[in-house]
Amino acid sequence: VKRLKVNTRRGHNHYEILIGRGSLDRVGHSVRSWMNDDANRVAVISDQKVLRLYGKRLLVSLKKSGFQVTHWTMKSGEAAKTLKTAEQAISFLNRSKLQRNDVVLALGGGVVGDLTGFAASIYLRGISFVNVPTTLLAQIDSSVGGKTAVNLPAGKNLVGSFHQPSGVVIDVEALATLPRRELVSGWCEAVKQGAVAGTKLFTQTTSFLERSKLGKAKFATAELEDLIAAHCTFKAAIVQGDEREQVATRNSRSRRILNFGHTVGHALEAVTGYRRFRHGEAVGHGMLVAGEISKNLGLLAESELELLVSAARLCGRLPPADDLDVDQIMAALARDKKSVSDSVQWVLLERIGRARIVDGKQINPRLLRSSIRTGLRTF
Ligand SMILES: NC(=O)c1ccc[n+]([C@@H]2O[C@H](COP(=O)([O-])OP(=O)(O)OC[C@H]3O[C@@H](n4cnc5c(N)ncnc54)[C@H](O)[C@@H]3O)[C@@H](O)[C@H]2O)c1
Repeated sequence: VKRLKVNTRRGHNHYEILIGRGSLDRVGHSVRSWMNDDANRVAVISDQKVLRLYGKRLLVSLKKSGFQVTHWTMKSGEAAKTLKTAEQAISFLNRSKLQRNDVVLALGGGVVGDLTGFAASIYLRGISFVNVPTTLLAQIDSSVGGKTAVNLPAGKNLVGSFHQPSGVVIDVEALATLPRRELVSGWCEAVKQGAVAGTKLFTQTTSFLERSKLGKAKFATAELEDLIAAHCTFKAAIVQGDEREQVATRNSRSRRILNFGHTVGHALEAVTGYRRFRHGEAVGHGMLVAGEISKNLGLLAESELELLVSAARLCGRLPPADDLDVDQIMAALARDKKSVSDSVQWVLLERIGRARIVDGKQINPRLLRSSIRTGLRTF
């Protein structure tokens, strides 16, 4: 088992991320080690599919460690990440008689994790939260960093809080049951993270993908554990430096560099009514557009862009995006929630492994338009 320590400034001083095969069977022991002795109850939130696959092992382990355990399943999918579901989750915590010394545990992908974290952050003004992520995206990205959220009809993640977990348990064997598109989506996020992290993480990611020939990967390999640990380490380092995504932080260590590919990614999701793309798939297209803009601004060498394109292609097939209306995409970009003073903050690349934040006002709309067109045709 790999053990990573994440330092946080607020709340807990640090928390652990445990990564290992079969760690699901040791969740009870881990939670016990993270909590004060007076923790009695664990309330588990999951979705039906994940609970059916992994719930039993998790619940048995928690009970073995002496916890009183209750569980509740929410609907799965982005459409369920709402205030209404959060209210249902909170009612469940209340019915479970959870007190301040007890624990809320999320078992599932980023949707379950974000919603459960949010409910834990506001119930009794915030109680302990443990995350057991079961998708690739959640294991390398969303479970680290303490961002929780629900969506509003007007847009994704518009309501939320920063609430650091008390611990994270990652069992890579859970990825073996993940549907293909969820894997592709996770790999796109991994390539994105590598592209802004440094050549080491980028190369580690792409060489794993090359060797595992997507779809035939062995999910229990030590190599995959190393890769997930490397991604968590990077994400944790960024988050430690910029826990609350300060607007004033604009350098290459800003938390905002994690939004590489997300500006266009979110716009693609919005113009297709959140129906065509999985989040990571939209980010896959989005990072190629960001790469194209970077090249057209003279920031990124053509050869570096080619590296990015090859890496993105290793992730697997994406739904097409070249038929989408560029005007609609431009309009969606103008509504980007990450805008500062009404200006889109683009995360671009100077080279693989080095990001730069560029104010949208500095990008000529014609250059932007043609970069979107070319970028969306690349895959
Ligand atoms: N908090 C953050 O920092 C952060 C970062 C990135 C993304 N996110 C959020 O994460 C969400 C996306 O998360 P996601 O990609 O994990 O999707 P998801 O949570 O919707 O899960 C995808 C699907 O996979 C199923 N599933 C989960 N684990 C499985 C397993 N092991 N085997 C079989 N099926 C399994 C789920 O039932 C679900 O249907 C978005 O809402 C996004 O906003 C949050």
